[in-house]
Amino acid sequence: MTDDSRFILDPATRDLHTDNDKLRAAGPLVPVTAEGVTAWAATRYATLLTVLTHPELSRELRHWPDRHTMPPGTAIDRIVTDTSMLNAEGETHRRLRMPLSAAFSPRRLERLRPRIETLTDRLIDHLAELPPGQPVDLRLEFAYPLPREVISELIGIPAAHQDELHRLTDAVAQVGGLEDSPELRKQLRELLDQVIEERRSTPGEDLISDLFKLHEKDGGRLSEDELFATIELLFIAGHVTTVNLITNGIRALLQAPGQLDLLRSGTCPYSTAVEETLRWDSPIAYFPMRYAVNDVEIDGITLRTGEPVLACFASAGRDPDQYGENADRFDLTNAPAHHLAFGHGPHFCLGAPLARMEGEIALKALFTAFPDMTSAAPLEELPPLDTLLGNSTRTMPVLLGP
Ligand code: HEM
Repeated sequence: MTDDSRFILDPATRDLHTDNDKLRAAGPLVPVTAEGVTAWAATRYATLLTVLTHPELSRELRHWPDRHTMPPGTAIDRIVTDTSMLNAEGETHRRLRMPLSAAFSPRRLERLRPRIETLTDRLIDHLAELPPGQPVDLRLEFAYPLPREVISELIGIPAAHQDELHRLTDAVAQVGGLEDSPELRKQLRELLDQVIEERRSTPGEDLISDLFKLHEKDGGRLSEDELFATIELLFIAGHVTTVNLITNGIRALLQAPGQLDLLRSGTCPYSTAVEETLRWDSPIAYFPMRYAVNDVEIDGITLRTGEPVLACFASAGRDPDQYGENADRFDLTNAPAHHLAFGHGPHFCLGAPLARMEGEIALKALFTAFPDMTSAAPLEELPPLDTLLGNSTRTMPVLLGP
């Protein structure tokens, strides 16, 4: 990032939270360049809240006249051209989102809890069997597989495809995010296509089968294209973000042993650690894109029709105007009631209850099973992900025992 009036968001050189301090200081809406695209960055909590719910800001790509100038193959390109609910508004958005809302309701997801606990315990057993005294990368060995197992069960990816899925997602782990690797994304798409075809002929108790039933029963409420985009979105959105949450939670707690004591003594619940991690180290750094449908004034700044806005979720989480002068301190005793890490308004994260449950189960099981766990490398020197969107470290090396 530069200090002049044009901020360049470049994951290769970024120091996320320091950069975000500069962005917030520069204003509530700041012109930035990211992956060759110029956009307004919504940097502060209150402004981001306005942006996420503003009726004159739309996620529909057709409202962005300069969309053709976007360099192809970037993460922004892949997100904004996705034909899922993420980039739909109004009636279309409701039609795409509604069929899934029951499956993702907190009540339905509670039924998944025992299954998530079993999967977690299995991973903990695997960690316990690793040779003692050797550093273990918890991002790869724990944070990564858990959400992958959960989302593939929920969606309905059969056991026969699991090896291929593991190969693919392990490769994704190396690059940071699926949006950052067109080739891996293509391969994942081919795999999901196969699974979808199998579910069409042999339905089961899973989301793909449910969506097919609806597709057939309701005279095609979802087109084939929309159905594919939905499944792909669920897989992508439901995976790496949660990996980042679990990794960031482990890191936050290891750097603050006093906070960990509050959890272990039962003074604070693990759900608070999840919420404070989401605020303090949001799994999503920057997220594209909303477009001004008309000229619109927000916090004294005029956005012209067709100009894009980028949401700065990690920046809003540390905004001192919202969270006070200690906003950049991870503090379970003072965790605020609200954060924007899952968004707000009509596009509020569909998987938030699931991600919260996974994060809570994972952190609790891990820190209970390995009370003497320590970091195997200086936490502040761990390499960040090389991706515009995600916020985490590429590795999380620890020593599990004394
Ligand atoms: C949307 C964050 C996990 C599915 C969003 C948005 C955010 C977000 C910020 C809103 C984007 C916007 O308004 O511009 C996160 C974080 C997660 C997480 C931080 C983990 C810690 C999940 C999971 C799933 C999921 C586990 C599904 C299994 C979705 C979907 C949307 C969405 C489908 C689009 C909703 C819509 O456009 O109506 N997520 N997410 N997410 N998320 Fe998540």
